[in-house]
Amino acid sequence: MPDIRGSIHGQWSSRFVFILAAVGSAVGLGNIWKFPYITGENGGGAFVVVYLICIALIGVPIMMAEILIGRRGRQSPINTMHALVADEKAHPAWRWLGWLGVLTGFLILSYYSVIAGWALAYVFRAGAGLFAGANAESVSTLFGALLDSPESMLAWHTIFMVMTMAVVARGVRSGLERAVTILMPALFALLVVLVLYALYAGDFARGAAFLFNPDFDKVFQHCELLESGVKSCRFSGEPLLIALGHAFFTLSLGMGAIMVYGSYMPGNASIARATLTIVAADTAAALLAGLAIFPIVFANGLEPASGPGLIFQTLPIAFGAMPGGQVFGTLFFVLLVFAAWTSAISLIEPAVAWLVENRGMARVPAALAVGAPAWVLGVGSVLSFNLWSGESFQFFGKTWFDLVDYLTANILLPLGGLLIALFAGWVMSRAASRGELRMGDGVGYRTWRFLVRYVSPWLVVIVFLNAIGLI
Ligand code: PHE
Ligand code: NA
Repeated sequence: MPDIRGSIHGQWSSRFVFILAAVGSAVGLGNIWKFPYITGENGGGAFVVVYLICIALIGVPIMMAEILIGRRGRQSPINTMHALVADEKAHPAWRWLGWLGVLTGFLILSYYSVIAGWALAYVFRAGAGLFAGANAESVSTLFGALLDSPESMLAWHTIFMVMTMAVVARGVRSGLERAVTILMPALFALLVVLVLYALYAGDFARGAAFLFNPDFDKVFQHCELLESGVKSCRFSGEPLLIALGHAFFTLSLGMGAIMVYGSYMPGNASIARATLTIVAADTAAALLAGLAIFPIVFANGLEPASGPGLIFQTLPIAFGAMPGGQVFGTLFFVLLVFAAWTSAISLIEPAVAWLVENRGMARVPAALAVGAPAWVLGVGSVLSFNLWSGESFQFFGKTWFDLVDYLTANILLPLGGLLIALFAGWVMSRAASRGELRMGDGVGYRTWRFLVRYVSPWLVVIVFLNAIGLI
């Protein structure tokens, strides 16, 4: 196994660029598309509280663990795990962790590209002025027309996948650095504009209450009316698993994306400080998106639990009514595509980096070798919204899209994250993790080590056991 630490892919030109790239990976469809729709499906406030707790107690320590492993190994996640297994004289089975991540990233990319394709389609709809004077009914018709056309969804999916492969083929650094510096702040600015609009024209009080007033019974009690007419309620842990899974998804944790970016991180940068910045930016983006969307949902009598189409059926109403909405709307979807783009790049980089290191491939064929099969798998997600939406194409009671989403976000990412925490907390020596974190031996380091050894892994295990009905 070649140990080629740091010699092939180069390093980020500064600490700041690492943070930008990691924020680019974290902030994406997860914040603006997925967070609002799963919050709507899971009853609001109490779900948000659980999600925020998962971010703080699981996301933060595991992100530090993932960055430190990456920077210590300085290669693709697969080879990093090989190198660290040798350094720490760990059991060889730990090497599989790198492979698990590559598989997970590949599966996520397959459907991520389909949803990013929706955003691409909406750039042109916004640009053509199709939202002018839109109401709940017209936006839903417009969205339905996209879902009903496998051909156009396939075309947008293809374009997005090609865009992703193109950047990765050129090498992550050159393209990414510039894009992220300008576009991420612009996306935040537009989210603020949308929140201001929601404040002015939406039902802001109700939207904010939905997001922030936790009603734990509503979210975690699952009630049925029995035949005898008695109402029977029991605790349902499913929203816990979804909140946990989303904490990993939104922070890009548990599959090696943050690890591979960490491997390009300059040695003298503070991992703890970088982590807090990335987490703060990601959380802010999600909460702003929620605050922009739910007031519009309630003001227009829409259904918060309407599923993956939520933002595509609410934001156009806002753009259709606000002054300058055509420009703002177009710009918003352009920025959403960019946010998705910078995330998709990080989904495929671990696999591409490995092909370059171990198969001696050039970056262009390596990007194709990963992107093309992910594209094929994505066709299943395209069809899930039309030709395969029926009963006969269900897998374990879910459409293909739902299945891949559920498997990756709620099972594979938390599993990968659990293993990363165990590796950094239990397998790596104290000297190794302390040396890499460079935060001395004070409260900060001790707190991190305590969380990553005892708190994060147990919480993940408890949520898992609960979800499969064992506790
Ligand atoms: N964090 C990204 C988002 O919120 C998705 C992602 C997951 C990217 C895992 C990389 C790895 O959209
Ligand atoms: Na995110």
